Amino acid sequence: AKDGYKLWLDYQPIDNASLNTEIEELFKGVYFFGKNPTYEVIKKELGLASKGFFNHNPEFKNLNQNAHLWIGTRTELTQYLGLEQQAKIKALGDEGYWRGTINQGGESHYAIVGNSPIGTLYGVFDFFRSIQTGTFDSSSEKSDSPKIKLRMLNHWDNLDRTVERGYAGFSIWDWHKLPGYVDPRYIDYARANASLGINAVSLTNVNANAWVLREDFIEKVKVLADLFRPYGIQVFLTARFSAPIEMGNLETADPLDAEVKNFWKERVDMIYKEIPDFGGFVVKANSEGQPGPHEYGRNHAEGANMLAEALAPHSGIVIWRAFVYSHEIDEDRHKQANLEFEPLDGKFMDNVIIQVKNGAIDFQPREPFHPLFGAVDETNLGMEFQITQEYLGQATQLVYLSPMWEEVLQSKTFRPSPNSTVAGIIDGSATNKKLTLMAGVSNIGTDRNWTGHLFGQANWYAFGKLAWDPYQNSSDIANEWISLTFGKDPETKSKILSIMLQSHEAAVNYMTPLGLHHIMGRSHHYGPGPWVEGGRADWTSLYYHRANTEGIGFDRTATGSNALGQYASEIASEWSDPNLIPEKFLLWFHHVPWDFQLKSGKTLWEGIAFHYDQGVKSARSFHQTWQTLEGLIDQERFNHVNQLLKIQVKEAEWWRNACLLFFQTFSNRPFPDDIEQPT
Ligand code: GCU
Repeated sequence: AKDGYKLWLDYQPIDNASLNTEIEELFKGVYFFGKNPTYEVIKKELGLASKGFFNHNPEFKNLNQNAHLWIGTRTELTQYLGLEQQAKIKALGDEGYWRGTINQGGESHYAIVGNSPIGTLYGVFDFFRSIQTGTFDSSSEKSDSPKIKLRMLNHWDNLDRTVERGYAGFSIWDWHKLPGYVDPRYIDYARANASLGINAVSLTNVNANAWVLREDFIEKVKVLADLFRPYGIQVFLTARFSAPIEMGNLETADPLDAEVKNFWKERVDMIYKEIPDFGGFVVKANSEGQPGPHEYGRNHAEGANMLAEALAPHSGIVIWRAFVYSHEIDEDRHKQANLEFEPLDGKFMDNVIIQVKNGAIDFQPREPFHPLFGAVDETNLGMEFQITQEYLGQATQLVYLSPMWEEVLQSKTFRPSPNSTVAGIIDGSATNKKLTLMAGVSNIGTDRNWTGHLFGQANWYAFGKLAWDPYQNSSDIANEWISLTFGKDPETKSKILSIMLQSHEAAVNYMTPLGLHHIMGRSHHYGPGPWVEGGRADWTSLYYHRANTEGIGFDRTATGSNALGQYASEIASEWSDPNLIPEKFLLWFHHVPWDFQLKSGKTLWEGIAFHYDQGVKSARSFHQTWQTLEGLIDQERFNHVNQLLKIQVKEAEWWRNACLLFFQTFSNRPFPDDIEQPT
């Protein structure tokens, strides 16, 4: 059934006859140069691929017995590789691989060679991908390696299987039936991640429950860790800072208290006894009411280092989140992370990474990059993207997020050097760091197709690709995903691609154009809610848009909160001028009069109306384009997406009407004639 369960690993029959024979030969003579659990995984995957491509099993041979496809590590294949080639492969690092033809004794062999079995696995998945996309070519070689060390999914899954901000059913972790019952889905999950190079997963919600650190839960976690290991996936857990009180019977969780330190040391030792390659902890502390070191007058570094000390002997790490703000403080939330973390630069242990959310506010449809990138030199910084679409239509809207991530990754920070970019900081090249991280808040649940909306799969896919190489482009990633998901028909591909590539800008247009942000319905964040008012110190008046009869927007220049002052001076000076700042960020940083002139010649009011209207038109065009795909793709997925696109059109109209009619009560101006009038 085309229900989406197989994700991008749906190995369809090969349609190119000549390539077919060549590749089929490879599958009929497979030789492994060694034995280990990861090779067992590769064997199984070869079985699935061969069945799918050719409808028969692969044949495993001996070396001197027509073995056409060679699989092994660099060291295992030493005698077949020249010295220069060995050096080249070695330089790719532990997880890198090379694949290409080796001529040996008058025969040629196609070899997939990793520096480690996991590297080999990555090479095999890439080999399959080349077959699926019709780009396999035995005469050209390919080598690749990840640019970021930790490529990680963060599940916001609770122990009762609800998922915070999850829109695809319940958590796939069945804690109740673990450790005894092993859901086959865990393996498919591991395969999907490994195929993208995702090598770490945090299983539990950042709003953490201390119970997951109990022995009985660790036994369950161990089962998952054992399953994931041959796929190269390391397991992390979220640690609740107050666990020493809640489960250790201590009176304090003060990170400098000897008993507290001891509690964590014992807990960590216990975990490593069960899971020797346990990754470490992800921690949300002193944010949104979560416990943390501030309760004891200690800072983030003292809190993080206490855990890092317990983990260090086991090579574990602490991923400490920079998403810190208190809704009780009357300070621009945009500034809080820098205020708390900049003074601590250089104070964190080497095995601590500060995980910085994409956007100082909160995963908005479009945010300027977080000002912590570039503000600290002596601190490991990782990126946190949100794959689940909390603020982007949840599971009813098709929004391909890769262009948004790409925009952020490519952003120039001007620090530490004039050419630095966010990508350069998180891959460590700009800052000379080895411990690097890109995390994505997962959009996965028990829904048959994993992500609720079929196109949510593309976001999981794109996240994995960008975590591997943050310099890739969204269009290439989308093209590849479409081929793997819908096949290679050019018409189908180009139509789907055009929808995907426009979808993020469209959502920004009908939700939060020109730098508007956080005007979603209160707490659920679904649909418009610009009228939300007060009740929290950090909201001051009217949420974040601050509309009044004069104009609209949040003044973050020197005359306002001066969050802009936290960026490099190149940015701060340019963006503090409403005529120079990129218009997409105008209302993020400026309170602007309704009659302010935009670059298009329109007034701000007309421009806002125009963008909302454009957003609706785009959503309608997606639905129209999709309808022309009927018959070109299977009815099952056609219907699934078609129904959702219809909902998306309604939601876009809802956003436009709600926001424009509401903002009109301040602007007191008519809608321009050239847009559809909101009602
Ligand atoms: C957002 C989200 C919360 C989440 C928080 C976080 O505010 O709405 O559900 O807990 O981010 O990232 O910690």
